[in-house]
Amino acid sequence: MSSSLCVLTGATGGIGQAIAKALYAKGWKLLLVGRNTQALEKLSRECPDSEIFTGDLTDDTTRIDLAIKAKQLGDVKLLINNAGINTMQSLEHTSNEQIDNMLMTNLSVPIKLCQLFLGQLEYTKGTIVNVGSSFGSIGYPFQTLYCASKFGLRGFTEALSRELNGSGVKVTYLAPRATDTSINSSKARAINKELGNKMDSPELVAQELLALISSNQTRRFIGFPEKLFARINGVFPSVVDNAIAKQLPKIKRFLS
Ligand SMILES: NC(=O)c1ccc[n+]([C@@H]2O[C@H](COP(=O)([O-])OP(=O)(O)OC[C@H]3O[C@@H](n4cnc5c(N)ncnc54)[C@H](OP(=O)(O)O)[C@@H]3O)[C@@H](O)[C@H]2O)c1
Repeated sequence: MSSSLCVLTGATGGIGQAIAKALYAKGWKLLLVGRNTQALEKLSRECPDSEIFTGDLTDDTTRIDLAIKAKQLGDVKLLINNAGINTMQSLEHTSNEQIDNMLMTNLSVPIKLCQLFLGQLEYTKGTIVNVGSSFGSIGYPFQTLYCASKFGLRGFTEALSRELNGSGVKVTYLAPRATDTSINSSKARAINKELGNKMDSPELVAQELLALISSNQTRRFIGFPEKLFARINGVFPSVVDNAIAKQLPKIKRFLS
């Protein structure tokens, strides 16, 4: 695996930085992608020989420029779609622009990047990791758009994995639960605390990603009881309906 090229989106974020350092330690050559050049430069100093690419991935031309830059560096063996956004709010108070931005960033961008890099990944018999969430399996109040995007990403990943069966490309889905990064607002953190939800470290998520890519698994869910709830929700959703209904008054207290 030494010197294999990995394209990592969301590299400047909490989970992205931890993934970058974990992959660097394993000998991967990294193309670090984000919008914040200073943060990318700082990370590339911590992972020497890494390359950086600055740009907004919701922009069509930017994604094509990224693919060109990657091709110049070598053959991509690992694509990690990790960039994402979240805002915890009611649908009632969400603008059309916010709807489009969430679905574009969390769902359309990873789909389009998978399509863009497919040729290279077929050539290298590489791996895709789409970073989802436990909210990609459990519909949660005040997370409607985030859930829509991550449910969509999980479905897309599963379908593509089955479509590419036998091609040599491995398509995988990693679902962290709440993790200690700045994607979580102070309100989201307060709600997690009130409900007794555990928060993982980004480093733990990075180790789970390493375990995923070195295994035969195509999906990996992080954290108990979240991964159990995800399964129960698939089979007996009314059980989870009732559990979340009991939490709703507490959640609303923080969001009104
Ligand atoms: N933290 C959690 O609780 C949690 C739980 C489950 C799943 N996840 C998922 O884990 C992934 C990483 O999240 P995180 O916690 O590390 O969040 P974070 O610290 O807020 O980082 C988000 C990253 O996404 C990048 N990004 C956002 N919009 C972008 C755009 N339009 N173009 C290019 N880059 C963009 C950001 O780049 P800039 O900084 O340069 O803007 C940043 O690098 C996300 O997919 C998230 O949904 C997180």
